[in-house]
Amino acid sequence: MRLFVLALALAAATPAFASKELAQKNACLACHGIDKKLVGPAFQDVAKKYSGQQDAAATLVKSIKAGGSGKWGPVPMPAQAALSDADAQSLAAWVLTGAK
Ligand code: HEC
Repeated sequence: MRLFVLALALAAATPAFASKELAQKNACLACHGIDKKLVGPAFQDVAKKYSGQQDAAATLVKSIKAGGSGKWGPVPMPAQAALSDADAQSLAAWVLTGAK
């Protein structure tokens, strides 16, 4: 129930359309598919992996900004230094709600 409410809150805070544009603008979609693995994991797989984790949004904000490696495969994700905190938060929320 708590999660459902959280998902709703995230969805409400994040107009889906704006975040897909944001993902396109920041070249996230060059490496990530919505439902297909490209260089990085599909955003829907990320949502699945983190569903049920309370600190998922904070974790993803961190790994989007700082990049990461070893969680999904051998290829690392480069840090997104130019991304603002607000944009990183919108993107994390968008990914966690299934990247629709
Ligand atoms: C150069 C390719 C590339 C770009 C550009 C890129 N990513 Fe990634 N991303 C990856 C790879 C590869 C991984 C898997 C890293 C790992 O195994 O830990 C990843 C992992 C992730 C994860 C999962 C992190 C975790 O902790 O499980 C998220 C969320 C994510 N990326 C979002 C984004 C967003 C949002 C952007 C745009 C701002 C973006 N990525 C841009 C390649 C990329």
